[in-house]
Amino acid sequence: YRVPKAFNEPNLHFEPNSPEREHLAKALKTLRSQLPKQVPAIGGRDAKVDSSKPLTPTHLPAEHAKTFSEYGSASEADVKRSIETALAAKQEWQDMPFHDRASIFLRAAELVTGKYRFELLAATMLGQGKNAWQAEIDAAAELADFFRYNVSFAQEIYDKQPTVNSPGHHGRTDWRPLEGFVYAVSPFNFTAIGGNLVSAPALMGNVVIWKPAPMTAYASQLVHNILLEAGLPEGVIQLVNGDAPTITKAVYDHPEFSALSFIGSSDVFRELYAKAAQGVGEKKYRDLPRMVGETSGKNFHLVHPSADIAEAARHTIRAAYEYAGQKCSACSRIYLPESQAQLFFSEMKKELARVKVGPPEDFTAFTGPVIDRKAFERVSKAIDAANADPRLETIVGGTYDGSVGYYISPTLYATTDDAHPIFDTEFFGPLLAAHVYPDAGFDAVLAQIDRQGGGFALTGNIFANDQRAIRKAENRLRYAAGNFYVNCKITAAVIGQQTFGGSRASGTCDKAGSVGLLQRFVAPRTLKEEY
Ligand code: SER
Repeated sequence: YRVPKAFNEPNLHFEPNSPEREHLAKALKTLRSQLPKQVPAIGGRDAKVDSSKPLTPTHLPAEHAKTFSEYGSASEADVKRSIETALAAKQEWQDMPFHDRASIFLRAAELVTGKYRFELLAATMLGQGKNAWQAEIDAAAELADFFRYNVSFAQEIYDKQPTVNSPGHHGRTDWRPLEGFVYAVSPFNFTAIGGNLVSAPALMGNVVIWKPAPMTAYASQLVHNILLEAGLPEGVIQLVNGDAPTITKAVYDHPEFSALSFIGSSDVFRELYAKAAQGVGEKKYRDLPRMVGETSGKNFHLVHPSADIAEAARHTIRAAYEYAGQKCSACSRIYLPESQAQLFFSEMKKELARVKVGPPEDFTAFTGPVIDRKAFERVSKAIDAANADPRLETIVGGTYDGSVGYYISPTLYATTDDAHPIFDTEFFGPLLAAHVYPDAGFDAVLAQIDRQGGGFALTGNIFANDQRAIRKAENRLRYAAGNFYVNCKITAAVIGQQTFGGSRASGTCDKAGSVGLLQRFVAPRTLKEEY
């Protein structure tokens, strides 16, 4: 028996008057009528909200006066109990034949794309402020793709066996799961990422403590419930909500902490990495815990004088402003040749004039709000500073309005200052900075791109028709991006087509959507038998 060939889930397009748009509108209406959604501190089939304890509210990014969810918070003792529950489920889970484990995730993919598709989309749209298309490529397509492709990648790993045995010898590899448990910490910006962070280690026979970002408490509960409905044994993935330091403390105090699987901010990852190292130094853990992380970026577009400028502008609008610039892959710095800069700016102005910013339920809106007050304050403060900076010219935007939702207008600044700090600061919002370089200075701009970016190296690209320029950029920028694209935008890697992840301060480059990621969650045992 072999697992079925993985495939990419086709996207729905939500054309006006289409049945899918109608289904989605209905799901949105239903979810709105149920707000606030209450989410228990610890997930599970019979999980209940403990109303004797305080719940923490989250608000709709597009309408912050309205509460979206209220989630319970696990205490340190609750997390410790969850870890014991997970460890108690481990033996049976790792003994389950791989194909039975795999079938759970394949069934879950069917539930994601069938029975629960519109619920997941509505949760992601209202809770995380994504429009229908952005929610669709995340909470439906990418989530199902992760489940399906991870199953294929796992099969590839189990298939890797020594193929040559000398007479009298037999060798094999036992792809053991890690001995303890995995701690998965997922971000607010993709519902699917949580699904990957838990399915990758679980498929390989591990048990997982899952701490999702608060803004995804409800969407993550849906994902967890789908996995349980698909047959995941209780305990294998323990979903815990609440205060991150409290949860982390319980995890990091446990001797069976075997791996961190993290996607989120670079500063938090560094902190968790350092804390794990400290625990290792103190001999707190049986294992040397694996650190697997993907963090932030200061991602770039590079335009060569030979590029198709209108095309580069269209791609840039999508990369910089879709989902309000809150994808870890989003473009936030662009390098333009002097000869083409004005044409590029006028294309951007023309195209952006047609773009609407609005709530996720407005099907005519191209992009929406940033996630919460903290993000709004961070980005609006950066805009105030940029507007007052004589070195920066405002090409588009530079305004914001937080009265109803956390709206920042798509913004583009330009400068000829090749050392401006705007090229090193991560904003995680719809704020793009352009550096205009002399056409003759292509080599210098490659060096500049490599040097700038705040130490991050996640995504980058080049727009060019000159093949020599493309190959040169590919070479010189070898370490400037873990995902390098040519003549296309730097967002929306498709599972099975582009693995995803960066290096330098952007993470451990273990690549979501690859065999490599799953391999981080096994400790292969080599067996040799003589007969
Ligand atoms: N994988 C996403 C993208 O490529 C970001 O997390 O846009």
